[in-house]
Amino acid sequence: MKKLIAGNWKMNTQAQGAAALTMDILKGLDADLPLARAVEFAIFPPCIHLPPINAMLKGAEIKPALGAQDCSPHANEGAYTGQISASMLAGYGCTHVILGHSERRHGLGETSETIRAKAQAAQAAGLVAIVCVGETQAEREAGRQDEVVAAQLEKSLPPEAGALNTVIAYEPVWAIGTGKTATTADVAAIHAMIRKWLSGRVKSPESLRILYGGSMKPDNAGALLSAPNVDGGLIGGASLKAEEFLAIGRAVLQDRAA
Ligand code: PGA
Repeated sequence: MKKLIAGNWKMNTQAQGAAALTMDILKGLDADLPLARAVEFAIFPPCIHLPPINAMLKGAEIKPALGAQDCSPHANEGAYTGQISASMLAGYGCTHVILGHSERRHGLGETSETIRAKAQAAQAAGLVAIVCVGETQAEREAGRQDEVVAAQLEKSLPPEAGALNTVIAYEPVWAIGTGKTATTADVAAIHAMIRKWLSGRVKSPESLRILYGGSMKPDNAGALLSAPNVDGGLIGGASLKAEEFLAIGRAVLQDRAA
């Protein structure tokens, strides 16, 4: 299974900056074909930039996949002010959508039940749902991380979840944007727990990707991405510079060569 390196731009970039970042990523991939072949990249710009970025990607042969940072739980069009449906995203070239990021769970009070409805809507529109889970600092200090993550998985994953339509992103809340990273051993332990939890509950649990996210940078990516059951990374801050984003992907190759 190829590793997936997913760049969550969050609420960053104006129109010009988004186009420039996309162009830099395209140039970087063009200049490094072994990297483009060995690693799967995906970018998640703010929704408003999706149409122009989709147009840029259309003209490129070697390119990252495109995704959104959220979608509506409602599959059908209707009176849902401010919402964007999964099928609208698919219409602008999106193949993936991030759901249940901690900045939405904790920042906006989004529940696992809502996230499950969103994942269902995403999958119905043919999108891969990247479902985020992760414990807070207090939950980790209380040793409750496994319990918290398992409960989030239980309530957030729709019954149709499987390797083809779902990716899990484990993102400890205390490691997001803080510069603190979980140790490789901690990441390996919780990813193993997630893999075990998936078994018997989803389709093709062995090949369902589990990403790690939380202050992943070029200098720690090699160790994190080589841990067992770590099938890629969800990158925030470091995805806003093309060279850092691609360097995280390159860490996968260096690890293989070592
Ligand atoms: P970070 O964000 O890499 O800036 O910690 C990760 C994420 O929130 O997806």
